[in-house]
Amino acid sequence: MTQAFTVKDYIRTIPDFPRPGILFRDVTTLFGDARGFRMAVDQLLLPWAGTRFDKVAGLEARGFILGGAVAHQLSAGFVPLRKKGKLPGRTIEQAYDLEYGTAVLEAHEDAIRPGEKVLLVDDLLATGGTALAGLRLIERLGGEAVGCAFVVDLPDLGRRRLLEDAGHRVHTLC
Ligand code: PRP
Ligand code: ADE
Repeated sequence: MTQAFTVKDYIRTIPDFPRPGILFRDVTTLFGDARGFRMAVDQLLLPWAGTRFDKVAGLEARGFILGGAVAHQLSAGFVPLRKKGKLPGRTIEQAYDLEYGTAVLEAHEDAIRPGEKVLLVDDLLATGGTALAGLRLIERLGGEAVGCAFVVDLPDLGRRRLLEDAGHRVHTLC
């Protein structure tokens, strides 16, 4: 009998990266497996079957890989939400806190048109700071942030509630 793998089985944990004490959930092993990658993309979309999205917004950098595939699957456009200083056009920015530092996220100011329905995608939800900043950028551009989808939820940090309390629908795979 062949073993049934779940998305979680494809994710590798690397201790003490990028700093001592951090258990780094490495999704490159998931992305690198054809079956695992397809399973993750398909499962990210499960709650939104039948919903029409105009755009998928992906968070740099691993959210680009998943978000591009999800956008293709939905026949939607893709919007990169990037770390400060990477986007060439006029941008709006949003500061946020990380599990291990602080950063600023940017979006092109014409990336989303008012009223467009947007799905936010990233690999992992830790403190929720990055996702909240991304959702805030979508809303400041006039988009409707319909929901957000992540492969990994780190429940020890307990921040899924942060997004839900802000009124966002949150979907995680493991
Ligand atoms: C990681 C991860 C998420 C974010 C989650 O990205 O891919 O985007 O952290 O953390 P949070 O919920 O505490 O905000 P990272 O900032 O390491 O950037 P990278 O993908 O460019 O390496
Ligand atoms: N981003 C923030 N915390 C992380 C973790 N523990 N593993 C992978 N990416 C992360």
